[in-house]
This record gives sequence, C-alpha cells and structure tokens, in this order.
Amino acid sequence: MKEKILVTGGLGFIGSHTVISLFEAGFEPIIVDNLSNSNIYVLDGIEAVIGYRPEIHVFDVLDHVKLNELFKIHTISAIVHFAAFKAVGESVQFPIKYYKNNVSGLVTLLEVMEKNEIQNIVFSSSCTVYGEPDIIPVSENNKLKPAESPYGATKQMGEIILKDNAHWCQSQCLRYFNPIGAHSSAKIGELPLGVPNNLIPFLTQSVSGLRDELTVYGNDYDTPDGTCIRDYIHVVDLAEAHVHSVKRLLKHQQLTAFEVFNIGTGTGSSVLEVINTFEKVNGVSVPHKIGERRSGDVVKVWANTEKVNTVLGWVAKKNLEDMLKDAWNWQKSLNSISK
Ligand code: UD1
Repeated sequence: MKEKILVTGGLGFIGSHTVISLFEAGFEPIIVDNLSNSNIYVLDGIEAVIGYRPEIHVFDVLDHVKLNELFKIHTISAIVHFAAFKAVGESVQFPIKYYKNNVSGLVTLLEVMEKNEIQNIVFSSSCTVYGEPDIIPVSENNKLKPAESPYGATKQMGEIILKDNAHWCQSQCLRYFNPIGAHSSAKIGELPLGVPNNLIPFLTQSVSGLRDELTVYGNDYDTPDGTCIRDYIHVVDLAEAHVHSVKRLLKHQQLTAFEVFNIGTGTGSSVLEVINTFEKVNGVSVPHKIGERRSGDVVKVWANTEKVNTVLGWVAKKNLEDMLKDAWNWQKSLNSISK
C-alpha cells in the first residue's frame, strides 16, 4: 500500500511538480486545490508526465468541514502545504486577504490535522523571512528581520505557528529561494495570471512578444554589475526537497520536531547574468531596458546550503542554464497552445 500524502495547492507551480516527484518516489499524492490561482488542466499535464491521474478535491483549506471529511475517507501520512497567496505587491494592497488565506488556512489545517491525529507537515516558507541579510550566504541561523510585506509576515507567522505546535506536530519549513524553470517535459510549469510580477515569466513573455520588453529594476546597486542578486532554484529540484522532507518526517529522522531548511543552490546570479545566460542557452535575444529600482527589493541574497545538504541530504542538481532552458521550453509550449 502506498502512503498517502495530501498536497494542498497541488495544482500550483511548485505543488504540481511536487505531486509528480512524490508519485515517482512511490507515494500516492492526493490534491486539494481551490483553483484560485491555478487551472484544472494542470491535472492533464501531471497525468501526461506520470501516466496516472491523482485524486483531486476542489475546495479551500479554510473549509474545515470538507477537510475533516477528507481525513475520514483517507489515512493521510503527511501533508505538504502549498495553498497560499504569493504576490508581494498584492499583499501590501490586500493584507486581510493574505492573513486570512495564508495564516488562517494553516491554522484551520492544523486544527483538523490534530483532530484526526495527523502529525506531519511540510510548510512552504520563503527566504523572504531573512529580509536583507547581514551575512551572505544566508544560513538558517541568520536572524530574521521584520517582514517587508504582509506576504513575508504570513511566512514568518506560519513558522512561528508550527514551532508553537511542535509538541504534537512534526514540521519541516522549507525556505525557498527563487523557484524558476519547469518540468523538462514542458507539460507543466508556471501559469502566471495577468501581468507577471516575477522575473522569469515576465522575461519569457517578453521574448515571446506578449510583453514589449523586460524592465531591469535598477543597475546602480552595490553588486558587480549593479543589478540585484538572487539564488535561483529549479522547481524540480525544489520538488525533490519536499520528498526528502516527507521521508524524513515519516521515518522520524528529525532532530527536533520543528525543523527549517534553506532550499537554494548556494549560488547567486544577477538580473543581467540571468538575461545573458537565457540568451546564450536559448539562442534568442531578450528585449530589455534598465529602469528604476523596485521598492522593497533586497539587494543580494543567496543560500548557505550546508544544513540542507548534510542534514536533509538534499542537493540541487540543476544549474541556471537548465532552469532557463526549461523555462523557455515551457513558454514555447504555452505559446503553441494559445495559437
Ligand atoms: C519575491 C519574494 C519571494 C517570493 C517570490 C515569489 C521578497 C524579498 N521576495 O522574490 O519571497 O517567494 O517573490 O513570489 O519578498 N526583476 C526585474 N524585472 C522584473 C521582475 C523582477 O528586474 O520585471 C528583478 C527583481 O528586482 C529581482 C529579481 O528580478 O532582483 C527577482 O525578482 P522576482 O522574480 O520578482 O523575485 P523576488 O522579488 O526575488
């Protein structure tokens, strides 16, 4: 019998890749998704990759009645909780929406988990909890800074909530750096609604002619080429990290009930390096201009990956070139569908 893993937000960008990785690792992923920022067709993409259509339940994690019913039907071994909003700018405009979905969503889930004696959860956290770090590469021991946005605050609160419940619930908080790329099959990838805020979807849409050009947000930062530096991580590597965490929980290998890991490559790349690498590996030119700084942007951040490499036993395998090739193949596959 395969162990059942509930994946909330399992049709989203990271969730859908994790569903595939969990299945390939021998688990039975079961999806809960309210389709608020995803599309039911993602299930077709997942099925095309793994030859299996995972069970899906379309409802909100705030719906404790439906969650409770689901936990009565299935014996769930662990939950991977992705269901959350993630747009930094939107969170500043609509903070209640973010606190309700991201914080109340987690609290509801925990309440129903406790009632049903489910004690394992992997939580989507973010490097945003570090703010502008004093020490780079940033390790899990770095001091957390006051959140720059309600979105960031919800990630910090999520971690606090899990830590406070460690007497009954084992949790793994994965602090993602910048997830990009897509599955190498180009059957699933990122599906931004409207104008993308993040670098890679905006870049690939600009190359496709869907946007005029990419604006590089500032080139006068204190970095070698003046543009901001991030630790970009391939979404498939990131998905694999969740499988490592689930196995760690199920085998009771945790050193403490609440654990935190950085999920990055340990390498920083500037915006201009990303553009140049994209052009080189894909043989296309990226229309772009230098613009003003974007408010709230961290100047440079990349991960110290020692803990995740040695303790969780996970190492990123894919480099920036792989990420940008897969991101472009995915955009081309989207372009061909919309033609
Ligand atoms: C932000 C959040 C992160 C969140 C992620 C996904 C912070 C500090 N980071 O990451 O927690 O998980 O969004 O929603 O809150 N850029 C351009 N032009 C563009 C878009 C981006 O130059 O059109 C630059 C940015 O200035 C930045 C880099 O590209 O230097 C990456 O930006 P983005 O993809 O938006 O991610 P972050 O802001 O790093």
